[in-house]
Amino acid sequence: VNILFIAYKYLQHLLQSKNTKGHGIHSPYLYRFSQNVIYEKNPFYTFPKIETLRRKLKFDNRTVAIKDFGTGKDRVEKVRDVAFKSLSQKKEAQLLFRLMCFLKAKDVLELGTSLGITTSYLASSSPKVRCISLEGSEEIAKIAIENFKTLGLQNVDLIVGNIDDTLQAVLQKMDKPDVVFFDANHNMKATLQYFNQCVEHIEQKTVFIIDDIHRSNDMEDAWNEIKRHPKVTATFDLFQLGIVFFNHNFPKKTYKMRF
Ligand SMILES: C[S@@+](CC[C@H](N)C(=O)[O-])C[C@H]1O[C@@H](n2cnc3c(N)ncnc32)[C@H](O)[C@@H]1O
Repeated sequence: VNILFIAYKYLQHLLQSKNTKGHGIHSPYLYRFSQNVIYEKNPFYTFPKIETLRRKLKFDNRTVAIKDFGTGKDRVEKVRDVAFKSLSQKKEAQLLFRLMCFLKAKDVLELGTSLGITTSYLASSSPKVRCISLEGSEEIAKIAIENFKTLGLQNVDLIVGNIDDTLQAVLQKMDKPDVVFFDANHNMKATLQYFNQCVEHIEQKTVFIIDDIHRSNDMEDAWNEIKRHPKVTATFDLFQLGIVFFNHNFPKKTYKMRF
């Protein structure tokens, strides 16, 4: 990841984020969404438990074998390094929790479980939630399952395998997802492939969240193509995350905001 590229892109985002705090959002629903999901700061009682676990993982010296589906090369890493590098930040994971509550979402699909920290936020938004999360590395998945046990979460179904092979069957079996979080291979080809597969299984009320939309030119190209997709209406560009709506009542428009 090129730090200078990201710094430049972030600066550009700061200058262009005209909808910060909800400015210029005319749809009352989307305005409420911006206030209650993006800018809400109140903590929920489940947050500290998950963050305590994240902190513990940052000191975990066990090693895990990792299968890298991007390069096809396997490697060995310490859990603590995975916890530092691979997980969505607290701020983003908590936004996802609030999104789940706001939508009263039940069926959620996560592409890329890693150690299961964001999964835990998604699953703990309500006991009624059914969370399916897909992960390729078996040893990482084992630790994620341990973490769900520690947190007492019984509503997560973790499916191990290359998403290229597992996604189609999962989509066919599960109820239409209310929320899909794309956080696996951060490249254009995989992102669009998974997006196109998932978009065939949505309802109007479904919301997609795409991680790392400005990480590279390639990911920006994927994000631009997603925004142009005929089923997509409103999108929110928070720099780190892209949020995608499909409801026809919303304008086909991108809201850029600082988060
Ligand atoms: C960025 S991490 C996920 C972080 C997690 N969502 C969180 O916020 O805590 C990406 C994960 O996706 C997995 N992954 C990447 N490409 C994959 C593929 N094609 N099939 C299965 N898993 C994949 C990696 O092994 C890695 O654990």
